[in-house]
Amino acid sequence: MGYPIPSGTQFMGPFKPMRFEATVEECIVTEGEIPRDLAGGFYRTGPTWKRPFADNQANALLAMDGMVQGITFENGRADFRNRWIRTPKYNLEQRHGKGMFTWADGKWNDWRSMGLGDICRDGFTRAVPQGTNNVNIFPFQGKMVATADSVGAPIAIDPITLDTVGVVDWSPQLSAGLHDKAAFGDAGFTAHPKWDPDTGVLYGWAYRSTAPYVTMHFVHPDGRVDSRDLHDAPYNTVAHDVWLTQNYIVMPFQPFLVDTNRVKEGKSVYSWEPERPIVLGLIPRHNLLEGEIRWITLDIEPQYVMHTMSANLDNDVLTLDAPIFNRPPFPFEQDFEDGDDVALFFSIAKSQLGRWTIDLKTGTTKTEQLSDRPSELPKVDERFYGKGYTWGYQVGGRVKRSGMSMNSVVVTNMRTLEDQEYQIRQDQPAAVLEATFAPRQIDSPEGDGYLIVPVSWWSENRGEYLIFDTEDVTQGPICRIDIPFHLGWTAHGHWMDFRG
Ligand SMILES: [Fe+2]
Repeated sequence: MGYPIPSGTQFMGPFKPMRFEATVEECIVTEGEIPRDLAGGFYRTGPTWKRPFADNQANALLAMDGMVQGITFENGRADFRNRWIRTPKYNLEQRHGKGMFTWADGKWNDWRSMGLGDICRDGFTRAVPQGTNNVNIFPFQGKMVATADSVGAPIAIDPITLDTVGVVDWSPQLSAGLHDKAAFGDAGFTAHPKWDPDTGVLYGWAYRSTAPYVTMHFVHPDGRVDSRDLHDAPYNTVAHDVWLTQNYIVMPFQPFLVDTNRVKEGKSVYSWEPERPIVLGLIPRHNLLEGEIRWITLDIEPQYVMHTMSANLDNDVLTLDAPIFNRPPFPFEQDFEDGDDVALFFSIAKSQLGRWTIDLKTGTTKTEQLSDRPSELPKVDERFYGKGYTWGYQVGGRVKRSGMSMNSVVVTNMRTLEDQEYQIRQDQPAAVLEATFAPRQIDSPEGDGYLIVPVSWWSENRGEYLIFDTEDVTQGPICRIDIPFHLGWTAHGHWMDFRG
């Protein structure tokens, strides 16, 4: 049975679905040379539309199946692969050759359909988890692990073949995320975990509509999981990202709420309630089970951090860096009418690099804007997670109506705030995607290495990976690697170093 690609903004431009799996060995380099000391892989995952959803449902982006794209480097050579992630949902629908899942919030063909509502279960889907693992992929236990945002169990991916290994064996120790567990091993896990580069401990959590709103999960390299419910959490929040300091995981409770029960009232699962204060939970990193959790209410105007850069702690003064939005980049009932088109992320709101400063002795707090340039998708040298940092990387852009249009790569010295920028595109239609940092040597100083930036030149049905030397990104890429077909949009990803 044939079918067209549906209409809608979630199918346009870089979101045009990449409906095939490809292997490109010895990728063509169109400019420069791949550094011979790059040894590792850069992996990303994103939602990719496979076929019409069941019951003519809206094709919400977060409900689309995850696809992993990976490029590996060794001795000056690059190989590219992309593969669907074989989730329980994907496998069921492959067996039947059609969409099998019906979302409670998929009945509206408008901005309210997030693909985060409960599944209307039937005999086919009754015990099949709904996770699509389409938001992020990160290294753990020698594999890459793909997750969504508190929907579905983490799934391990082979870093060379990109074959799906399966649900991680520590998943049964995790709690439920936004939805009840559909089967043994089902769970929810964050899209933005952090980790201890020395011990390998993975710091994760799950969040949900009802109390306890957040459960922390620290996963040890041997697969043991320590868990703690945050019983004193102030309200339910989209707990998307955290900061990691030497002693704490700093989790922001921001008034961007998620409640799957709102669907019954004809509303999106998400809401923005800026009259609530922002509250930080300081969770002890080295004693999760018994350490004291400190709660700090910020005395600042309403604003929103979607992704963190990193944090420094000097003389009891905590600085939390991030692109700061004027409001969450999601559509809300305050702004949209039923029936309005889907509006995606950066078309709705804009962010600039900013800093929340908390004096841990006095409890005073402040917010600062550090740059006028719109920017998002912050990254750091992950070998220094939780140790304080100097170098921050972002995708930069310009204001476009009430949102922003991304076009450059930006490197910022977060101690001096000096920055470097390279404009990757002018007015050509293209998507500049989130970068990754890769170290020159496994023990190079912080920030010494390369930035790899994927670019989807979607109007030309091709993609590129640009490699910059962090020594000076203003010089432009030292290497351009050609991907000879449409490079579909992906949300996030990480580097895995093959040298240890
Ligand atoms: Fe994210």
